[in-house]
Amino acid sequence: MVKLHDLEFEPFISEEEIENAIDGLAKQLNEEFGNQNPVFIGVLNGAFMFASEIIKRFDGDCEISFVKMASYKGTESTGDIKNLVGLNQDIAGRTVILLEDIVDTGNTLEEIDKMLLSAKVKRYEVATLFFKPEAYKKSIPVNYRGMDIENKFIVGYGLDYDGLGRNLRQVYKRKEQKMTNLLLFGPPGAGKGTQADILKEKYNLVHISTGDIFRYNIKNQTELGISAKSFIDKGQLVPDEVTINMLNAEVEKNEGCNGFIFDGFPRTEAQAEALQVYLSSKNTEVHAMIALEVDDEILVQRLLERGKTSGRVDDADEAVIRNRIKVYYAETAILKNFYKKQDKFYGVDGVGTIQEITDRLSAVIDELMEK
Ligand code: IMP
Ligand code: MG
Repeated sequence: MVKLHDLEFEPFISEEEIENAIDGLAKQLNEEFGNQNPVFIGVLNGAFMFASEIIKRFDGDCEISFVKMASYKGTESTGDIKNLVGLNQDIAGRTVILLEDIVDTGNTLEEIDKMLLSAKVKRYEVATLFFKPEAYKKSIPVNYRGMDIENKFIVGYGLDYDGLGRNLRQVYKRKEQKMTNLLLFGPPGAGKGTQADILKEKYNLVHISTGDIFRYNIKNQTELGISAKSFIDKGQLVPDEVTINMLNAEVEKNEGCNGFIFDGFPRTEAQAEALQVYLSSKNTEVHAMIALEVDDEILVQRLLERGKTSGRVDDADEAVIRNRIKVYYAETAILKNFYKKQDKFYGVDGVGTIQEITDRLSAVIDELMEK
């Protein structure tokens, strides 16, 4: 384990694995470019170690340059401009092999691509030690890859966290925060509210209900609340972006907690994806979608019973109740599929006493926490 500034990192890729990856890449590059006198262009700072190891293993003639991305202040409208500096060699008509430590979103690569094309190179290929397939958003081919890795923040072997860690001989990844994040689902009348209250106490989780957050933000006229209300007043759905921003703010407020029970969110696949991206930026994830399952006829009876005392109009009319249940299944089916694909869907029998249902839910959560 290493600590850099405020963050802890744990061993992820050993020296030997890195060496094997570089050996493999060097072999491919020798086969393909051995007699083409290529120009290697290393992208600083991160690629210095990798570049040195690759170039040592290259047997043919070659030349070497380094470039660096520099940002400078543009005008107010353009903001920070990124620019490539350092190329002091004519590469027109040459075969270029770009050496990158890591390709993540591909933004850097896109800048370099522009530069290489305007320099009129004959051909160029990208060789990167690490590649994050889940993060890559561009279409520029990355044909030479040492290792594909999951979308986690790593340091070592040239890669830094805020300036530190480049000198480490092996690669470390940011230590996982032990959190348990649950999505609790259930048709109206399934007892979701009751169970969420019990579970948040039992496991010390923060219960986030999007309905509650909307009402709170609107009542307190926060910026997000005002924005949400403008849509609601027009009879429109609140856009996913506004909802996810509200949710993010709620998660930020509870930094360092044991985890969350999300209730009423996500509602669409786009929201589920946004949540995934957001939680992964917080170095965590959704661990389970748990759906309470109750037969329709039992739900209708429970809600009609509740309607007699609760005074809620939407609980009084059987046709309205049946429609709410139908809407729930239509909405949930998409999400059930989304999380099933990730092996994260858990259906729990929601018929029985409150205690029995809590026990069933707890069995699922205990298993998740042991993992
Ligand atoms: P891009 O998103 O492909 O443009 O990657 C931009 C730059 O971000 C890389 O050249 C690295 O300097 C840095 N970077 C991306 N992912 C990581 C990481 O996991 N650890 C350290 N630096 C990273
Ligand atoms: Mg880099």
